[in-house]
Order: sequence, then C-alpha cells, then structure tokens
Amino acid sequence: MKQFFILPVFLAIAWTRTAINESQKFQAQHIFSPEKLDSDRPNIVFILTDDQDVHLSSLDYMPFVKKHLLDQGTYFNKHYCTTAVCCPSRVTLWTGKAAHNTNITDVNPPYGGYPKFVTQGFNKAYLPIWLQNAGYNTYYTGKLFNVHTVDNYNKPEAAGFTNSDFLLDPYTYNYLNSTFQRKGEEPKSYEGQYTTDVLAEKAFGLLDEAVQSEKPFFLTIAPIAPHGNIYMNGSILDDNPVFEHTAPVSAERHQHLFKDVKVPRTENFNPDEASGANWILTLPHQNATNIAYNDHFYRQRLRSLQTVDELVDGLFTRLESYNLLSNTYILYSSDNGFHIGQHRLQPGKSCGYEEDVNIPLIVRGPGAAKNWSTDIVTSHTDLAPTFFDILGIAQREDFDGSAFPLTRAEIEKAMAGKRRREHVNVEYWGFAGGEGIFDDTLHENNTYKAIRILGPGYNLYYSIWCTNEHELYDMDVDPEQMNNLLSSSSSSSEALIAGLPIRKAVARLDALLFVMKSCKGVTCRKPWEELHPNGEVLTLQDALATEYDHFYEVEVEQNGMKVEYNFCSNGYLVEAEGAMWKNVEGKEGIRMLKRGGLRWDAWV
Ligand SMILES: *[C@@H]1O[C@H](CO)[C@@H](O)[C@H](O)[C@H]1NC(C)=O
Ligand SMILES: *[C@@H]1O[C@H](CO)[C@@H](O)[C@H](O)[C@H]1NC(C)=O
Ligand SMILES: *[C@@H]1O[C@H](CO)[C@@H](O)[C@H](O)[C@H]1NC(C)=O
Ligand SMILES: *[C@@H]1O[C@H](CO)[C@@H](O)[C@H](O)[C@H]1NC(C)=O
Ligand SMILES: *[C@@H]1O[C@H](CO)[C@@H](O)[C@H](O)[C@H]1NC(C)=O
Ligand SMILES: *[C@@H]1O[C@H](CO)[C@@H](O)[C@H](O)[C@H]1NC(C)=O
Ligand SMILES: *[C@@H]1O[C@H](CO)[C@@H](O)[C@H](O)[C@H]1NC(C)=O
Repeated sequence: MKQFFILPVFLAIAWTRTAINESQKFQAQHIFSPEKLDSDRPNIVFILTDDQDVHLSSLDYMPFVKKHLLDQGTYFNKHYCTTAVCCPSRVTLWTGKAAHNTNITDVNPPYGGYPKFVTQGFNKAYLPIWLQNAGYNTYYTGKLFNVHTVDNYNKPEAAGFTNSDFLLDPYTYNYLNSTFQRKGEEPKSYEGQYTTDVLAEKAFGLLDEAVQSEKPFFLTIAPIAPHGNIYMNGSILDDNPVFEHTAPVSAERHQHLFKDVKVPRTENFNPDEASGANWILTLPHQNATNIAYNDHFYRQRLRSLQTVDELVDGLFTRLESYNLLSNTYILYSSDNGFHIGQHRLQPGKSCGYEEDVNIPLIVRGPGAAKNWSTDIVTSHTDLAPTFFDILGIAQREDFDGSAFPLTRAEIEKAMAGKRRREHVNVEYWGFAGGEGIFDDTLHENNTYKAIRILGPGYNLYYSIWCTNEHELYDMDVDPEQMNNLLSSSSSSSEALIAGLPIRKAVARLDALLFVMKSCKGVTCRKPWEELHPNGEVLTLQDALATEYDHFYEVEVEQNGMKVEYNFCSNGYLVEAEGAMWKNVEGKEGIRMLKRGGLRWDAWV
C-alpha cells in the first residue's frame, strides 16, 4: 500500500490537461504494476450515448471516436437494440433480458421507468451487482434510467455501484441545467454549465478513483447527447408536469459548426408517397419549413455530440497515461437509434425501421481487430453476456442473449460455422412520440414485434403490428424499406426470398417470431431448436429446405402458430398478445402446441 502514497501527487499533475511526458508515464507504469491491477482481469469502460443513430451518419462527425475507437477497434455494423426507446433498451442492456421478460416496456410508469425497474426486482439482479459479486469495482456517471428523479433516487438508491454520479429527472435532458447526484449525497444543480462538460469531469474523476483502487473496474459514461433538450417543471410522477421538447443544445464553442450540413437525402427521406404501415403510412409530406427545422434539429444533434467526442479524447489521454490501454476494453454504443424525416417521420425513435434499431457498437481492447468492420449480428441483449465473457464470469442461464466473440478469427469462425444467431428479435409496446416542434402528438398503437434476419440469400425485416398489419422488406434490394412486400397494395407477390416464393420464408418467420415473442433464456438464444429439437435446423436457410414445407406451410398454419394480436395495448398484457408458444411464466400453458405429448417434429 505504501507505494500508493505518491498517487495524489501524480494525479494532481496528470489532471492539468497538459500532455503527459515519458517520465510521468513511467511513474504510472511503476505505480500501477500489472499485478496490482490484477492483469488477468481486464477493465471495461463503456460509453453509452442517448438516441445516437448510425444511418444519419452521426459517427462521421466524431473525429476522436474515429481516431481512438474506429481506427483502433472493431465496428459491429449489424448491432441492434431490441426495443427502440431509452428505458426498456437500457434495462435489456443491463440485465441481458428481452423487454418481454423484464416487462419494462415503456419509459414511464406503469409500464416502465426506474420505479418499475425496482418493483420488478432488477435492482437486486442486474449487471453492476453481478460484477461486484465477481470482484469488480463499478462506476457510473450520467443517465441510468428514465423517471430516476431528485425525489426517488434514494428510495432505494440504484444498487451495485462502488461510486456513481447520476443525472436525475426532471433535469436529465436539460443541457444547461442538469442535476447530478453523487452516491450518498444530495442532488446538486449545475445550472448554466454544459451537461456533457460536467459529465466529462465526473467521468475522469471516477476513472481516477477506479485506478486508485486495487481492483479491476467497470466504468460507464452515459451522456445525454444527442437526445433532444427537454425542459420539465416536474417529473412524470408530479401533478401536471409540463414538458417542452426542443432540439439538442450544443456547447457554445460548437455552435458555429456544420452550418451547411443537412439530413442525408436518402430515398426514404420525406418520400413523395407515404411508406411503412399503420400510423406511419398516414403521415403527410413535409413542407419546406418543416424540413428546414428538421435539418436544424439534425445539426444540433451533431453539435451536441462534439462534447462527447472531446470526452472520448480526454478519456484516451488518461487511459494511456495510466498505461491501461493494453488491459482495458472500451466500448461505444447508444441505447437506441433515431430518425429524422425518413418515411416522413418527424424526429424521434420507437419504430422498428433500420434507422431506429441498427445502432453504433465499437469495441477496442485486447484482441479486438483494429480498423475493422464486421457484419456479425449482435444486439443489446448480448452485451451483458459478452461482458461476462470478457471478464471470465460464468454465463447465467436466464440470459436471453449470448456472448459474441471479439477477435477477428473467432468472429469469422462463428459466422462461417452457423454457430452464431443470425437474427434479432425487435419488440415494442405503446406510443411513439414525435420530437421537435411539428409533431408533439403521441401516436397510439405503436405496438409491434419484428425480426431482423441476415443470412445466405436473405437480408430481411419482418414485422407484425398490433393492428395485425404485416411488413416484409428485402433489405438487399430495398435497404431503405420503401417497398413492403406484404402491403395490401403490393404487386410484388412474385418476389423471391433466397430464390423461393416469399410465402415460404414468411411461413418460417411466423413460426420463429411466434417462439421468440414469449421466449426465455435458452429458448431466446436458440429458438429454432424449439421448433426442431433434434438440432438439424439452426438458420432460416436450414428451415427453408423443402422437407419442412408441410410442417411450416400446413401444420403451423393449421395450428394458428402465428403472431396475431387481440388488440393494441400500451404495455405487455398477455390478453392482448394472442396465442402463445408457452405462457409467460415459462410453464406449458396458454396454448402449448403439442400433440399427444410428442414434440413438434415427431408428428411432422
Ligand atoms: C516530466 O514529468 C516529470 C514528473 O512530473 C518532471 O519531473 C519532468 O521535469 C518532466 N519532463 C519534462 C521534459 O517536462
Ligand atoms: C483503415 O483501413 C483503411 C482501409 O480499409 C485504410 O485506408 C486506413 O488508412 C486505415 N486506417 C488506419 C488508422 O489504419
Ligand atoms: C435549474 O434547476 C434548479 C434545480 O436544480 C432550479 O431550481 C432552477 O430554477 C432551474 N433553472 C432554470 C433556469 O430552469
Ligand atoms: C407545471 O406547470 C403546469 C402549468 O403551469 C402546472 O399546472 C403544474 O402544476 C406544474 N407542475 C409542477 C410539478 O410544478
Ligand atoms: C408546414 O408544415 C407544418 C407542419 O405540418 C405546418 O405547421 C406549417 O403551417 C406549414 N407551413 C407552410 C408554409 O405551409
Ligand atoms: C388502436 O387500435 C385499436 C384496436 O386495438 C383501435 O380500436 C383504435 O381505433 C386504434 N387507434 C388508433 C388511433 O388508430
Ligand atoms: C406487465 O406489467 C403490467 C403493468 O404492471 C401488467 O399489467 C402486466 O400484466 C405485466 N405483464 C406480464 C406479462 O407480466
């Protein structure tokens, strides 16, 4: 311990933001010798932004993310969130469970928010606690969940953190009037200071603490950028709170940037004909005033991300000065994606379209290939299992996701050997809220289930809405999801999927989605094995074999084994969800499709 007495001196020098010289580096190495840091057990730093897109090109405007993460790490270009809104997505991320198993399906009570996280029991069973049990120190700063407020933050406090400094409602999304709450202390207002700058200092301070401890650590840095700015005069739990949702606010030093930048004018941007399904199909064409505002909203997002980019640079300066880079994984992701103008949508998320669900994931660290991009399919459900894997903790049986490999050789092997799930299960309940000034209505009936699946000869998005409308997009020929092959007006009935008529693929996808919608644990990880317990079908390609035509196209159909809603509900109400493969308790129940006690494929 004696050596550690010189630490404060070193810290005082290192934190002056000046370049660290070689002599200081040596000191750092000397102080934090590998055995002190338990070098077999790597550290993790996780940067989690809020509402950051991939498809609107936001990463192109972050030079330090490129320099430190993309150029030095692996970009997972087919990474997905499974519920495209903050709180459900974050709970999935921190528990490794799909939203239908957490039943945190909304940002607000009664279906979501921090109070529901607590009553569902997850404050006693989520990643930070599991990490602490495994001997890790855990640190968190920024936004944890919605409806984590200045009133309820200690009733009880979010468990599992060695130290924490949370953004709290009703000030979470107020870029210039944030309130943070440090573990064990009262909430503190930072009125007039720029939220991400405050957060950066807190993150660097927590990193210092983590390094001073003799344990391996997991540090999460969760800024709100590029989420919209929200002024609230109370939290959702107060009487008649007023919310004012505007474009994100940038730091003063970034206000002048990107003056000529506009939302990418892709084919699905404000199209001449309405697209999508359900309420999206009814949206009006946007006029020039509306588009100009949305371009402004877009620029404000990019500007707000500049402080995050600077934070990333500062973080790497410190990790390097502490000589931690060779033993630390640094991950960069977002809770969900974002759309502006695609399918005529106003700024927002909550849809199943690629802009909202395909999100950034960059991993830098020991063994991760540098400057490489992979299209292995991964999702937020897989992150907790992957963290377990990195840190050498045995997997939990109740994880709905599975660890994905991080080295290039293992990724390529997994993809070649069909040993990796090729689909993501996307689900949503309730409203979609428009952001910005031209759409402050809540769009009802935004309840749907979907599959995003990629394999040899197919690259599809299949969705079923609570109105029982269906969508199918062939993402190879229609990456912007403009031609719904299952719309009532579609003339594409001759379209082929993997060289076969689309109805063949749809029959398989119906059965897969039917299993997925109430899956738990291993059933979510290996849903095809529910349908084919002998293990001979692991992919859609396998299931498309003609020997299964009768099973999928006759038996499955006859048994009503498809997702069909009884009505649109704002939460996960079993009575709204139609027939179930197994009931939600995991017991054989509501409509377990068995015949005479035999498993499915015994009677095919
Ligand atoms: C480097 O840092 C050490 C320790 O703080 C200091 O003594 C030394 O003068 C510095 N060297 C240079 C070249 O700045
Ligand atoms: C990353 O790879 C691209 C080619 O794919 C190359 O042009 C670029 O120089 C590489 N960048 C770094 C930092 O190695
Ligand atoms: C900023 O937040 C504090 C509470 O943390 C509040 O008292 C104050 O009125 C807010 N200021 C503005 C300008 O909204
Ligand atoms: C917020 O403002 C509205 C409208 O002025 C008011 O009715 C409500 O009581 C306020 N809520 C809080 C928590 O201050
Ligand atoms: C443009 O569209 C917005 C949103 O529908 C509407 O409020 C506004 O009045 C329209 N402006 C013009 C000039 O038509
Ligand atoms: C929502 O769906 C229900 C049926 O579940 C229907 O009665 C209602 O009209 C729909 N609301 C809207 C706004 O479409
Ligand atoms: C999910 O939570 C809601 C609200 O508490 C409840 O009504 C519903 O029954 C729950 N769903 C399941 C499947 O437990």
